Amino acid sequence: MNTVNLNLVFIIFLIITQVFGGRDFYNILQVQKDATTKQIKSAYRKLAKQMHPDKNPDDPTATEKFQELALAYEVLSDENKRKKYDQFGEEGLKDELNTGGHDPFSSFFGDFFSFNFGGQPQQGERDTPKGDSITIPLEVTLEEIYSGNFIEIQRIKPVAKQTSGSRECNCRTEMKTTQVGPGRIQMTQQRVCDQCPNFKYVNEEKILEMEIEPGMEEGQEYPFVGEGEPNIDGDPGDIFFKIIILKHPVFERKGLDLYTNITISLQDALVGFKTNIKHLDGHQVPIERNQVTWPGARIKKKKEGLPSNENYNLRGNLIVTFDVDFPRGELTESQKSGIEKILKQKTKPNVYNGLQGY
Ligand SMILES: *[C@@H]1O[C@H](CO)[C@@H](O)[C@H](O)[C@H]1NC(C)=O
Repeated sequence: MNTVNLNLVFIIFLIITQVFGGRDFYNILQVQKDATTKQIKSAYRKLAKQMHPDKNPDDPTATEKFQELALAYEVLSDENKRKKYDQFGEEGLKDELNTGGHDPFSSFFGDFFSFNFGGQPQQGERDTPKGDSITIPLEVTLEEIYSGNFIEIQRIKPVAKQTSGSRECNCRTEMKTTQVGPGRIQMTQQRVCDQCPNFKYVNEEKILEMEIEPGMEEGQEYPFVGEGEPNIDGDPGDIFFKIIILKHPVFERKGLDLYTNITISLQDALVGFKTNIKHLDGHQVPIERNQVTWPGARIKKKKEGLPSNENYNLRGNLIVTFDVDFPRGELTESQKSGIEKILKQKTKPNVYNGLQGY
């Protein structure tokens, strides 16, 4: 009898440690132990899109997994919580996490869920008036499009708060019939209103955090559902941030490819050269030529372009076009004959219509 009891206690103990022993949040977010906050945010966003229960209707554990992911994010994205977690595991955060009542479906970075799932507008909500939606151009640098970035936008908006008193609402015109004398009635139009609780708008500050995803396109819109203009009788509108990519002094974007120009000297053009291009994230791209480089010559550096927004492993190319800076002035007779001996370029000048191809 005693041994059975002990066994039972032991099994219960095992179950408890299974549940409370702590999960590996790094593993859940698929990041390294030394991941930066940016990597954690990025990983969370990517996984949240994939793992959202709406996207996995056949998986009965989808909600549970999604909540676990949100919890992992909540802990690792917060410096203090992460420190405690690293030291004591999930156990060390017991108090904070149990009291939080954190809603995993609340949007961290705008509503990328409804955005990506083509979220159907809920039936029956059509009649609710909605505040205006606003589209705000958001200028981003090519560096940000190359590496990705998280930016915070401070939004100050009036929020409706209930105050004392009441206000007229749902106003309509009704007919009112009154007897004005014997055998005489009169119908008059009257404005009739209900009394609703009174509101006043109070300015509230909120930080909207958004991710500039690598490879984002010009004109792409990033929605924050419900952050637009308020409507006192209904739902607020949405805010859309529209990506505008600033012109870059060195690189130009075409699709996933990047273009840049290098001017080289005539000497380098003839004898070859080695140089580096400092890329958008600071890494150096070596450029080496041993052959002759003519004006307009192009070389392609594979995979040095922008990452695809759909698949970060997919990258465009960097296309470098050369321009040759010729020396000015005149050479001496002996220099001239020297060059003739070296080049032996006997072709006659060719006269042609230079506009062809324009
Ligand atoms: C490279 O030069 C061409 C021709 O002058 C120009 O059209 C293009 O915009 C230049 N590219 C960059 C990235 O400056």
